[in-house]
Amino acid sequence: MYQSKIVGIGHFVPENVVTNKDIESLMDTSDEWIQERTGIKERRWVVPGDGNTTSSMGTKAARKAISQANLLPSDIDFIIFATLSPDYYFPGPGVMVQKELGITEVGALDVRNQCSGFIYSLSVADQFIKTGMYKNILVIGSELHSGGLEKSSRGRGVSVIFGDGAGAVVVQRSENNTHGILSTHLHSEGLHAEELALIGPSTGRWVPEIIEVNDPNDTSYYPHMNGNFVFKHAVVRFSEVIMEALNANSLQTSDIGILIPHQANLRISQFIQKQMKLNDAQVFNNIMHYGNTTAASIPIALSEANEQGLIVKDKIVCLAAFGSGFTWASALIRW
Ligand code: UT7
Repeated sequence: MYQSKIVGIGHFVPENVVTNKDIESLMDTSDEWIQERTGIKERRWVVPGDGNTTSSMGTKAARKAISQANLLPSDIDFIIFATLSPDYYFPGPGVMVQKELGITEVGALDVRNQCSGFIYSLSVADQFIKTGMYKNILVIGSELHSGGLEKSSRGRGVSVIFGDGAGAVVVQRSENNTHGILSTHLHSEGLHAEELALIGPSTGRWVPEIIEVNDPNDTSYYPHMNGNFVFKHAVVRFSEVIMEALNANSLQTSDIGILIPHQANLRISQFIQKQMKLNDAQVFNNIMHYGNTTAASIPIALSEANEQGLIVKDKIVCLAAFGSGFTWASALIRW
């Protein structure tokens, strides 16, 4: 069996910075509340008409990852795209990236696992590489949340949290079996599917029905999150899935060179850090600047950590995520 290695990382975020102060003018909230409860200071929101879409941001991140890998788009033999905010209901954004990059006829897979989408995608890439099916797989996480948030006091529990952006990696076949992706671990619990969800429009509630009823109290087309409930599950599942990855590789928390948790809430990251007795250098957070970018948060953070020189050879990199589904996942990498 082959080993898989991340050989290129890139990210792209829209230029438009939206501070907590800016949000105060849209709804009944405060910079103090947002920072205290989430750690977020600002996020990026696309400006309508600026040309940014989920797939275009994903494409920009992908170009950087491919260039860093010293490859050409034509070297990519499979694309995996994770998002909960696709450009279209169908087709998914994987084929749009394929078109933009001019990659002809390779497979493009769209993954729908929300905050865990990037790690699920990485896991799929890892399996395809290990079995020898593909050599260079492009894995993208991208989200454009801002257009679909309820930017009023009614939606404040959700809308202050989410941001737009994209990250991408190139996963490559390697013959070195001591380095690269050591293992991935995927879980879900559909019992809590509706605790963090966007219910309509969907096949359960088609658009014509929503338009016909035209109920101003219908919030089903905005994301809904039972924040406290999600928070309590998140802290347990994050810790479990990180320990599962360490145990699978006979490693301990002290072996973690850097933990890059999905950027859901700084309080969640801090809780895990404390619980696992990790020092500040072992945990990377950038939610302060981007908010929660769902499937894009881990590759954006990985890319920034890499730019800061924190992702170096031999380091144990742990990725972990929890989110809607519920889904949760981890990946352990020896760089
Ligand atoms: O990425 C996917 C996974 N997502 C997560 O893991 C998120 C998990 N949950 C959370 O991060 C937190 O639950 C939130 C940040 C969403 C909310 O923080 P919280 O400490 O759980 O607040 P809460 O929902 O219990 O609300 C506390 C109060 C409420 O007012 P009352 O009922 O105490 O009077 C809310 O109405 O804060 C109020 N509130 C706000 N106030 C100002 C809710 N949103 C806001 C807001 N600004 N934006």
